[in-house]
Amino acid sequence: MVTSNIDTLVAEVHTLMAQSDKCKKAFGLYDNMLQPTFIGRPVEFSEADFPRVEYQRRQQFWDPVRLALFTLAIVAIIGIAIGIVTHFVVEDDKSFYYLASFKITNIKYKENYGMKSSREFTERSHQIERMMSRIFLRSSGGGRFIKSHVIKLSPDEHGMRIFMVLMFRYPSTDSAEQIRKKIERILYQSLKTKQLPLTINKPSFTLTSIDSKKMRNLLNSRCGIRMTSSNMPLPASSSTERIIQGRETALEGEWPWQVSLQLIGAGHQCGASLISNTWLLTAAHCFRKNKDPNQWIATFGTTITPPAVQRSLGKIIVHENYHRETNENDIALAQLTTRVEFSNIVQRVCLPDSSIKLPPKTSVFVTGFGSIVDDGPTQNKLRQARVETISTDVCNRKDVYDGLITSGMLCAGFMEGKVDACKGDSGGPLVYDNHDIWYLVGIVSWGQSCALPKKPGVYTRVTQYREWIASKTGI
Ligand code: ARG
Repeated sequence: MVTSNIDTLVAEVHTLMAQSDKCKKAFGLYDNMLQPTFIGRPVEFSEADFPRVEYQRRQQFWDPVRLALFTLAIVAIIGIAIGIVTHFVVEDDKSFYYLASFKITNIKYKENYGMKSSREFTERSHQIERMMSRIFLRSSGGGRFIKSHVIKLSPDEHGMRIFMVLMFRYPSTDSAEQIRKKIERILYQSLKTKQLPLTINKPSFTLTSIDSKKMRNLLNSRCGIRMTSSNMPLPASSSTERIIQGRETALEGEWPWQVSLQLIGAGHQCGASLISNTWLLTAAHCFRKNKDPNQWIATFGTTITPPAVQRSLGKIIVHENYHRETNENDIALAQLTTRVEFSNIVQRVCLPDSSIKLPPKTSVFVTGFGSIVDDGPTQNKLRQARVETISTDVCNRKDVYDGLITSGMLCAGFMEGKVDACKGDSGGPLVYDNHDIWYLVGIVSWGQSCALPKKPGVYTRVTQYREWIASKTGI
């Protein structure tokens, strides 16, 4: 190694000396120092092994590598500087909210449009919201549109009137009025150029700028809408986590209908879901040991301690036909003594129409404060897991639950196990995302141990109890 280095050095010096007098002068110092070592040592080299250009490059300060690095550094510094300047001078984007109202003339109003939980309202509002995305997402102002929600459909002599909230993001230096004009222009342009499924009556169109508080209040007339605390819509939850070994829910407001039911003095017992300002839906088996509402409290928020909101219970209604042996009709209602106000942190989930049927392998989410290992302790931070619905036929197979699944139950999980709800998640929500509106499709009920293969979670099938819920609560 050392020898070869010295050989190389010797070779280089020799080449340089051989090249020109100038070089010899420049390396005079080394000449003197190294000279004795050279004596008597024949050095073999050819110019092809050490091309001339190599040596010339080493002599120059501005060799290409240095030049490239220097340029890169300058570019990086300029880039960072521009970034800093834009960050402070050109301010960030800000959310702008508008209430839009307009008439639609090619659709007749239906009685059920007045009921927001009806299938008719749901489908029609999705169609209108899709149309708005089409108008704004593909316009020149593109990416500025976030989303829209229909607030109300009301009868009108020529069809019906629509009220909806529109959300945009624009630079905070823009004024609400400027943006309003832009939005109007885009919409009018689309009315002329785009084939839209609904005929919007242009003169009836009004657009009013509203603040985030007003926007949230308007959205509160609808169930199952999630928002972050900064009033941004939450991204769709898509990852596969699990309550068992799963992740804590990252964002406040991700599952705003999640409730922890606690026995005073004994802490968290069960989950529940908020379905109105005062009503909770949970599992009947949660009240097996104690049905006295005075002994219970309900908390909201992503942690048990500290809770975001806390309420006492005034009433507990357990399903009349709940059977502890078979787990049939494992459903119960609990009423809060005082109502909770809806916010981004506390929000009700939608109840699905009794006719809704989810096909097998539909993605659904289960959330809870339950244990992450069989018989483990309650978790202080809310956890979530993505699971998939499993058909009753499969779930009733001999090697699965062998006929234990009745029409009021719904299986969800994975045949290979691994992802599941567990002890302490009972009564909690299994929810389904339908175009950014979340529906309660199941209530955590039972399962053989947790996350075992061929033993998925079994949930109370909420659609089956839609009428029962309505009969007790009017919801
Ligand atoms: N019964 C349990 C409880 O009281 C919940 C069971 C859910 N089990 C399951 N493997 N998904 O919390």
